[in-house]
Parts: sequence; structure tokens; C-alpha cells
Amino acid sequence: MLKDLLIKNRSYRGYDRSVRMNHSDLEELVELTRYTPSSVNKQPLKYHIASTEEEVMAIMPYTLWAKGLKELHLPFPGTEPTAFIVISQDLSIDSHDSYQRDVGIVAQVMLLGAVEKGFGGCMIGSFNKAGIKELLGFDETIDPKLVIAFGKPAEQIVLIDTDESGSTAYFRKDGIHYVPKRKLEDILN
Ligand SMILES: Cc1cc2nc3c(=O)[nH]c(=O)nc-3n(C[C@H](O)[C@H](O)[C@H](O)COP(=O)(O)O)c2cc1C
Repeated sequence: MLKDLLIKNRSYRGYDRSVRMNHSDLEELVELTRYTPSSVNKQPLKYHIASTEEEVMAIMPYTLWAKGLKELHLPFPGTEPTAFIVISQDLSIDSHDSYQRDVGIVAQVMLLGAVEKGFGGCMIGSFNKAGIKELLGFDETIDPKLVIAFGKPAEQIVLIDTDESGSTAYFRKDGIHYVPKRKLEDILN
């Protein structure tokens, strides 16, 4: 059921590195994006799959995780993701900035696909664009928009309703990661 997949699809920041997602699994996730809508059907997005240990660990320093829990320096050493997909906009197809919406759609679709396969991931919007471009050898037409980490989740994440304070800040207690979500009555207007 879609709701079950959505609930399982959390932002995981710790992975079991003994279980790798292979390249064909990741290609299947990219293939899913071919069935998503795109503004004016331009489809300007391109995908770089990083699935080797070497490339994944080279990308890691360019990514920033859990700004809200900076002091933890997640992911803990040894629990890094085992793959990344870098979503870029091919500016030679269309350079308009409205395609950030397309990016959100394809990102969620790929993450749901990963969850369906027993994996999980985390969107990384805080990344060093210049560093990633140089590392991956992208020319000036390929503009990275979002990085997604993938792997076998090794974290317990619990969704909770926001309390009276209304705070949406995620937090950790006894090793469990809690994510407050606004209640239905709070998001209807
Ligand atoms: C567009 C976007 C960018 C994000 N960028 C980052 C990021 O750079 N680093 C990170 O650790 N989490 C990132 N996240 C994950 C959010 O922090 C996460 O969605 C939020 O804490 C709620 O947790 P949940 O996804 O498990 O519901 C991003 C999420 C979105 C939607």
C-alpha cells in the first residue's frame, strides 16, 4: 500500500554497509522516473549513478547531513550509504529554474522504489555543487540539483505528531530518531 511505503520511506542517515544496492537496482530506480510528469514534458533531468565504494566515498565529503543534529556528525563512520544518485538539470534541454519541482517528484519516486526493494535513502539538498561537478566531470550544461543517498537502513526512525509547542525539529533519544509531523487538522486550511 502506498501509505505503508510512505511511512517506511524515512530520511535514513545510517546504513548497513554489508548490504550493497547493485548498479542494476539503481538503474531500475532511474527508469521509474520515465513515468513521472514533467513541466511542458521537457524532461531536462539527468541522473548519475554512483555505486562503487570508491565513488561513493569520494562524494561523501561534499554532502551535509542532518543540519538539525550537527553535533552528531551523521552518518557515523562505517554507516555511510552504499550508493548515490545525483540528479542534475541538463541546461542544454532547458535552463529555466522551475524544474526544481520535477526534481522533487523524481526524487520521491526513486526513494519509494528503493523502499519497495527493501532499501532506503535520504535526499541531500545541502551539497557542494562545484565539488560534485568537478569530481564527476560534469560540463557546464549539467547542473546538479539534488543528491540522493541509498543503502540498507540501519536506523530506527519513529514518526510522531507535533506537540503543543508545534516544533517540527527532529531529535534523537536512546538511539531512536524521532520526526514530528504536523497533524492533519494543522495542515488543512
Ligand atoms: C528537498 C530536500 C532536501 C533535503 N536535504 C537534506 C540534507 O541536505 N541533509 C539531510 O541530512 N537531510 C536532508 N533532507 C531530509 C530532511 O531533513 C527530512 O526529510 C526531514 O528531517 C523529515 O524526515 P523524514 O524524511 O524522515 O520525514 C532533505 C529533504 C528534502 C525534502
